This record gives sequence, structure tokens and C-alpha cells, in this order.
Amino acid sequence: MSPAASAQPEFGEFEFVVVSNRLPVDRVTDDDGTTGWRRSPGGLVTALAPVMEKADGAWVGWHGAPDEKLKPFHNKGMQLVPVELSLREVEFYYEGFSNATLWPLYHDVIAPPEFHRHWWDSYRRVNERFATAAAKVAAEGATVWVQDYQLQLVPKLLREVRPDLKIGFFNHIPFPPVEIFAQMPWRRQVLEGLLGADLVGFQRTGDTSNFLRCVRRYVGHPIKAQQVDVQDDAGRTLYFSRAEAFPISIDVKRISDLAENEDVRERARQIRRELGDPKVVVLGVDRLDYTKGIGHRLKAYGELLEDGRIKVENSALIQVASPSRERVEQYRILREEVEGAVGHISGMFDTMRNTAIRYLHHSYPVEEMVALYLAADVMLVTALRDGMNLVAKEYVAARTNNQGALVLSEFTGAADQLRQAVLVNPHDIDGLKEAICQAIQMDPQEANRRMKSMRKQVLQNDVERWSEDFLRALQAKEDHV
Ligand code: G6P
Repeated sequence: MSPAASAQPEFGEFEFVVVSNRLPVDRVTDDDGTTGWRRSPGGLVTALAPVMEKADGAWVGWHGAPDEKLKPFHNKGMQLVPVELSLREVEFYYEGFSNATLWPLYHDVIAPPEFHRHWWDSYRRVNERFATAAAKVAAEGATVWVQDYQLQLVPKLLREVRPDLKIGFFNHIPFPPVEIFAQMPWRRQVLEGLLGADLVGFQRTGDTSNFLRCVRRYVGHPIKAQQVDVQDDAGRTLYFSRAEAFPISIDVKRISDLAENEDVRERARQIRRELGDPKVVVLGVDRLDYTKGIGHRLKAYGELLEDGRIKVENSALIQVASPSRERVEQYRILREEVEGAVGHISGMFDTMRNTAIRYLHHSYPVEEMVALYLAADVMLVTALRDGMNLVAKEYVAARTNNQGALVLSEFTGAADQLRQAVLVNPHDIDGLKEAICQAIQMDPQEANRRMKSMRKQVLQNDVERWSEDFLRALQAKEDHV
């Protein structure tokens, strides 16, 4: 029996608990030894932080620093409960199983996934620790909402020690087709882990059907519509678990308020001035991750310069690539490739006055991001696979004057909703070049019509609605049907 399963049930004080690998803030230590907190990277925190700032609940997660034990603390009105990870666990569970096994496997095997038994062991142990931590703070009958691929075993572990809880799970990244998921040596354990939840949420309906197909093939429980009849070995129904799509979103009001803020608008004008007031500003914003298609984008842009369809004097590309998972091999390789490509293009096309690409290997506060969105005539989102892509939604939310054009990969969850973007297959470099030109040259009236329709979609479906929809469905779910 696992340590989590052997613990005696004891009740905590929180009616609502979110569990994710990362807390919304990371522990950072400066060169002089002083410690502080910095906003954690990525879409999960972007989406959940505004929800949790308003909710009265606890957030259980890792604080980003290895081998450091911290007490629960308050931050921005949130009760945060740190879970400790050793240096080894960071290597095996986080960098290894989460980000070199699951991440590439769930993103169309863009990079080859690695399977190591000692990584899996560490993943199991860390999932047990998160389940124990959540069980400790959750009140009797509380709702616990587990997040993302790093914690897929937590729902089942939690149900074993705390059958009184309502357990939800949301997967922020894609769920792969059965033919790819099949590669995973521990596929059955992962599916059973997820099925511990009363409600398993995905970004797209395609992810939901992939998951259900995997359950049918590798677990074998009966499935009716989207309900899985979770049975014991004798075929008796234990409970029902439901799978459903809930496309995630952003804090639309925060972004559009910032877009109306005079300081932010002035900063946007300043950015354009600093670029030498080019006719067109094109923007890419990503974590430096091989799923984001940054190389494909640079190739297309470089060829457009080469063809003379874009001129360095009147067009500037800003590429923000925020540092991510820098100790994982594939991310190191990617950084070298991207920086090599940027250097190559700059070497070919820069003049004393103009630079083809402003490459920024930093992360920025939201105010600066919104200023960049306002400064950009064209936004490029060319991911090869992406659960949702919140940058696309942020760009749309920031364009309060309904101007600007979004080039959006078909392989993002966002493409299901932002149908008026210029949709592209980023593998098709010629198609991508055409799409970039189409966006740059788009007739303002047409751009206005498209942006208006995308804004309507985003405004009606903000992150608050996402969490309300999920939690309502979780509460409404009957245990027995
Ligand atoms: C994606 C994942 C998140 C993750 C984030 C940043 O958005 O869905 O779970 O937190 O990337 O990645 P990191 O490995 O730095 O937490």
C-alpha cells in the first residue's frame, strides 16, 4: 500500500483546494543571498492565478526551489501550501518524467520521449506527496481540483485516502491519440490515476475522445457517452468518472484594462519609436519550447526577407522567448538552434540602422506584454502542438480598437475558437509565408471585422467562466447514474 493510502483520514480547513506542480510564485535567491518571489512561468499560472486570487481556498504546489522546506504562507490574498522537492526529484520527476517523457509524448512526439524506470518511480513518489499534502488541507467533503500532466496519479491516490472529496482534474496540455499514448510503459497506471477524478477536463473535444479511446483500450471499463463506469476486479461499479472539454481562457478584463491604460499605451508608442517607427511590427511571444514552432516562424520570416517581400527598413520582428526548463537537453538544443537562426538572419539582413529580429530571451511583467501586444500589427502563433495558447487570446483581448491581425496555428486549442484568425499549418513554410503576408497586407476593414469577432469570442469566454463551468459540472455530477 502506498504511503498516501496508509495515512489515516484527517480533515483540513479548506473547502476548495487547487493542486498543481507549480505555485503561482517561484522562490528566487539573488546573487547577494536575499530571497524573494517571482511570478511562475506558463499558461497554467496565467489562467489560475486570477481565479484563485478571488476564491477562498488553498493552492498546493512546488515553490520552484529544490531542497527547501517552507511553511504555508499568504501571497496576493492566496493561501499557498508549498510541497518540497529534492534536487534528485527535480531531476527525475520534473525535468525527467514530466518534461522529457510526458511533455514530448503528449505533444505529438515532436521531440523523442524518453522512458526511464527510475523517473517513473520518482513521479509516483512525488504524486503521493502532493496527494498527502492536498488531503491534509482539504475539509470534509471539500472540492479538490488537480491540475496538469505532472500530477496525473493524484486523483486516484486522493480518492483512496479521502473518498469524501469531490475531485476534479484538468489537463492543460493535449491528450495524445491512442497510437502515441500506447508507447508509454505505464499507460494503464496513468489512466487509472486520472480516473480517480469525478470529472476529468480537457482543452478540446479531440483530447477528450483521445482519452476515452485510451481508457477503452487499456483499462477496459465500460463507457457510455462521456461517463466511465469505474469498476472493481469483480466488475462491480465503484463510481462514475466523466470526461469533458472546457477550453481555458484568460483574465480578459485585466488585459483589456491594461490596454486602455495611458502609461501602457505610451509604452507601446515608445516601443515603436525605439524600433525606428517601422511600417509593420510583427510579434512572437513564447516560452522557449520546441512545441512552439519558433524555428518554423524564423524560417518563414527569413525567407520573406530573402525574397524581398519584407524589407528590413520597414518591418521589424520582435521575438520574446522566455527561458524555460533550461536544464533539459532538448531545450538546450532548441536554444542553440533558435539563437543560431536569429544570428544567421541578422547577419544577412541587418543594416547599421535596422535589425531584422529583436530576440529577447527574457520574461516580462504583464504591463510590458500588453504594451508589446499594442505595439504589434501582426501576432504570430505558430505552435506545432499546443493545448490552448493563451498568448493568442491575450493579443485579441488587448486589441481594444479591433485592429491588428493574428496568424494562428491550426494545432493550437485556441484555433477551435478563434476561427477568424489567419489559420496556418506551420509545417507548410510556403503557406506560412503567405499567411504572414496576408496578415501584414490585410485590408483594415477586414482586419477589423475579424478582430471584432475574435474579441467577442474571448470576451464571452474568460477564465472565470472556464472555472465556473468546470466547477459547476463537477458539483452537478452524480456519483451513481
Ligand atoms: C505549461 C504547462 C504548465 C507549466 C508551464 C510552465 O503551461 O501546462 O503546467 O507550469 O508550461 O512550465 P514549467 O515547467 O516551467 O512549470
